[in-house]
Amino acid sequence: MANLISNMARSIGLPRLKRAVGVVTRRLPIPQPVLCVGPGSAGRLGRTVGGLGHHKVMLVTDADVAGLGLHQTVLDALVAAGTPVVVFDAVAADAPIACIEQGIALFGAQGCDAVVAVGGGSVMDTAKVIALCAANGKHPRDLVGYFKARQAPAPIYAVPTTAGTGSEVTVAAVVSDPAGGGKRVIADTRLVPTLAALDPDLMMALPPAITAATGMDALTHAIESYIGGWATPYTDRMALAAVGMIFKNLPLVFHDGSNRQAREQMALASCFAGLAFTRANVGNVHAIAHQLGGKYHTPHGLANAIELPGVLRFAAAQTAPKLAALAVRTGLGVPHDGQATLAARFLDGVEALNHTLGIPGHLAALQAADIPALAAAACWEADTQYPVARRMTQQACEALLQAVLPPELSTKPPTKPPTKPSRLAAAKRPRRATMGHEQTP
Ligand SMILES: NC(=O)c1ccc[n+]([C@@H]2O[C@H](COP(=O)([O-])OP(=O)(O)OC[C@H]3O[C@@H](n4cnc5c(N)ncnc54)[C@H](O)[C@@H]3O)[C@@H](O)[C@H]2O)c1
Ligand SMILES: [Fe+2]
Repeated sequence: MANLISNMARSIGLPRLKRAVGVVTRRLPIPQPVLCVGPGSAGRLGRTVGGLGHHKVMLVTDADVAGLGLHQTVLDALVAAGTPVVVFDAVAADAPIACIEQGIALFGAQGCDAVVAVGGGSVMDTAKVIALCAANGKHPRDLVGYFKARQAPAPIYAVPTTAGTGSEVTVAAVVSDPAGGGKRVIADTRLVPTLAALDPDLMMALPPAITAATGMDALTHAIESYIGGWATPYTDRMALAAVGMIFKNLPLVFHDGSNRQAREQMALASCFAGLAFTRANVGNVHAIAHQLGGKYHTPHGLANAIELPGVLRFAAAQTAPKLAALAVRTGLGVPHDGQATLAARFLDGVEALNHTLGIPGHLAALQAADIPALAAAACWEADTQYPVARRMTQQACEALLQAVLPPELSTKPPTKPPTKPSRLAAAKRPRRATMGHEQTP
């Protein structure tokens, strides 16, 4: 069915419609949060929010982040400023709707009037949707899509603890809906947080596997926004800066998580990539990764990282000048080397980065029998939402998925196996959720 609709949509001129949306998107006013950056900025954000006169704030986090005490500085600052706080630490990976429902109920029962998110993308997106649903008296499913809410959300403040999603500056919240099948996006310019803190101290304990996967998510945002059809001079500046910073700093933080300066650079790069893609959007890599996340719960950044090299090669002919510019920006060559050589070096550079980070060349959970449906859903998402440089046909998308099948299931020999064993198998996410710890001054 998705295939049929997708083919019909193409025939009635979806590319033209997308170009028109691109014109609007380039001009759409998108707010940006006030940013506090650097060690100790989480506490500064807590003190600032504490002075804004909220009746009661809901601090949204997850059990792992809370278990590491990463929310404590913000919590202490709010309490010291005299602001009542209730802690909701039951967020689960990929912001499932059932978990958001619990948060909305607690927000209402406690009479909260603002959310402070301390965590990765799953936490920030959960907090955004709680704030939007509570203000509108709506269920998350009613708000899936673009600008579905009448009322602005309750004020949102964000403290990312991963350097990946950029959700602290984006108009989007990605939720997972097991009942409806897969991942859904709620987008509204009013979902951009009012204040955000990029505090490298909160990222020092990120394990290497999560550092790698989330960093590759940020890289994918930057690259896809740069090579897509809605890029602007502003998004190009942000994306180029992000790609350069990630190539330099991601290997550093992967090998030495305690490198505070490199952690701060990664937090900034992820934020820059978020600023780029919230206007210029993402592309085919995300279209595929969202299906893998929905079907197999593959961590979002890992799914992107595995698909990124193949998808970039798929559109290499259409994007060669941009790939060449990325090679120059990442120090993989100089303009004199020529476009074709530079573009090839960047493609090789992305693969080499994956290998350095222990990202596998295949997705262990992927089943050959699932590929046609996954490809149909990915093509539909890309066709209807993303300004891609090269459109994927069903056949092309199936081939991109076939290429990352585990070697024992693949009919083709693997191209370039990783040089070292993957550490991503360890990226499991135990959740010990509790919720509703009230903290009053
Ligand atoms: N809203 C957006 O614009 C946007 C953009 C991209 C992705 N996303 C969504 O964000 C979600 C993924 O977010 P993510 O990649 O940040 O992962 P995540 O929030 O799911 O966190 C991954 C794991 O890392 C742990 N963790 C987080 N910070 C930590 C720290 N400092 N130290 C130790 N452990 C820590 C978490 O507890 C969790 O177990 C997906 O649902 C994805 O679709 C949203
Ligand atoms: Fe992403």
